Amino acid sequence: MRGRYIAFEGIDGAGKSTVAEAVAEELRSDGLVVETVREPGGTPVGEAIRDILLHSHDHLEPWAEALLFAASRAQLAAQTIAPLLEDGSWVLSDRSVYSSLAYQGAGRELGVDVVRSVNAAGLGGVWPDLVVLLELDPTAGLARQQDPDRIGGEGLGLQERVASGYRRLVETDQAVVAVDASRGVARVVRDSVEIIRERFGESV
Ligand code: TYD
Repeated sequence: MRGRYIAFEGIDGAGKSTVAEAVAEELRSDGLVVETVREPGGTPVGEAIRDILLHSHDHLEPWAEALLFAASRAQLAAQTIAPLLEDGSWVLSDRSVYSSLAYQGAGRELGVDVVRSVNAAGLGGVWPDLVVLLELDPTAGLARQQDPDRIGGEGLGLQERVASGYRRLVETDQAVVAVDASRGVARVVRDSVEIIRERFGESV
């Protein structure tokens, strides 16, 4: 049976990486084969693109940024995620196309629909089955960031537009479920696992 593709999303500082790894461990203890990936990156070309995206000293035009994220994602989808799902593995991803909808579509104001279309064209149907959104107040997110990258370090305005973009996605897209990320990691992990079990009960 094809595996499931679950993405963890949220503003900078929401704690996705920690939660995704802990949820992966929990699902493995249920006997599932679970792999974790991260975006941008995850392939040699994707990691090179990540370096430009997060550390470029040159100003990146909003559409150049959006297309680089989409390019990194297209590599990861075709070379890593699709084969894993085909083999029956579950894939837990730290970020996904939904980051582009929130950051480039809403945050950079390029438009969520057009960013969705451009990404869909590059993904060949590799799309998250479920998105767990770790929802956090942008001020709290900024306070939690230790070593902000180019985008995370841009300040509150961008994070606020991104947070409202994510909120609209929770309201309009059935794949997206929100978890209150202001509580401790253990609680957030427990809520996330519960959401996954509710959604895919027959196979977890
Ligand atoms: P990430 O490595 O997840 O950083 P963090 O763990 O600090 O959240 O993501 C790096 C940055 O890239 C983050 O600010 C979000 C941004 N980003 C986008 O703007 N669009 C995208 O499509 C993706 C995947 C990330």
